[in-house]
Amino acid sequence: MQLNNNFFALLYFLGSLGIYVLAGRDFYKILGVDRNANTNEIKKAYRNLAKELHPDKNKGDPEAENKFRDLGEAYEVLSDKDKRKTYDKGGEEALKQQGGFSDPFDSFSSFFGDFGFGFGGSSHQEREIPKGGDVVLSLDVTLEELYNGNFIEVVRYKPVAKPTSGTRKCNCRPEMKTIQLGPGRFQMVQQQVCDDCPNIKMVPEEKLLEIEIEKGMRDGQTYPFVAEGEPHMDGEPGDLKFIINQMKHSVFERRGDDLYTNITISLLDALTGFRLDIVHLDGHKVSISRDKITWPGAKILKKGEGMPNYENNNAKGTLYITFDVEFPRGELASDAKQEMQKLLQQERSQRVYNGLQGY
Ligand SMILES: *[C@@H]1O[C@H](CO)[C@@H](O)[C@H](O)[C@H]1NC(C)=O
Repeated sequence: MQLNNNFFALLYFLGSLGIYVLAGRDFYKILGVDRNANTNEIKKAYRNLAKELHPDKNKGDPEAENKFRDLGEAYEVLSDKDKRKTYDKGGEEALKQQGGFSDPFDSFSSFFGDFGFGFGGSSHQEREIPKGGDVVLSLDVTLEELYNGNFIEVVRYKPVAKPTSGTRKCNCRPEMKTIQLGPGRFQMVQQQVCDDCPNIKMVPEEKLLEIEIEKGMRDGQTYPFVAEGEPHMDGEPGDLKFIINQMKHSVFERRGDDLYTNITISLLDALTGFRLDIVHLDGHKVSISRDKITWPGAKILKKGEGMPNYENNNAKGTLYITFDVEFPRGELASDAKQEMQKLLQQERSQRVYNGLQGY
């Protein structure tokens, strides 16, 4: 009797341990992010890991499906404000009341399109599969986004094939056919021959696409989503391609990884020196201070204050600053003119030249 009681107590203990373990998937750990990670960090972590963990890429690993599922569900919860709040308070157990998880491939296709990278190693090479048209769209991106990185959400209304009643002609191809015209007279004609397929209709479906603007991406760069383009009745859909269009910026001009800006200072600052801050694309300040005289067209360059390089984010370009000097207008009083002469000690000189040809 005593033994029995202990045995059940032990079972109960093990049981509760088991439930505790089941309830306790650590979504932050699965994504490898901090507990206070922001949405962009969560998306970035998901996008990087999803590429690695996609089952097509890990064919030998029997656990691949589960790892990919864990990742998808971790992302689904942490990328949703409400679900994340619930999870932070009560763990996975608390989420159970909110219904199940969606297909982990849904999140994946939001980032990469429908067929991922097609690294499955296509088996039907013999027959050419017809493909729908590619859809190419320009995506306006600010210089701030290209400097800091960002995620842009795009809702795409995508026509999706749905079964409907009846049949339709499909797999049409030209075939030679013999027609008897009379006794001993035949004619060969080419005819369009088709099969009957179950009928489908195109229904627009809303789909969320997540575009990662990576640091240092360049104007004109293509960002593909596989199989998110125009559908094809008898084949695969085309691709959707976003072309990065870098928008003009009021302070900085970008050339390669370098940035250019102009500053107009007063004549007083030009002569006596100055101190100023430029607010950069992520809000940090670039301080400039000069004691020497600054002339119109003078340039200062700041290494490492340009754009991050796309291939290597740690390398940054140069910021080129060109000065212009705003002169006062009007006329100085005659005693001020004399004072100026004494102060500047400059020789009177003029040079006449063809400035347009650079002589
Ligand atoms: C700004 O600086 C560039 C050189 O970096 C110069 O060519 C251009 O004329 C300047 N713009 C103005 C309005 O002064």
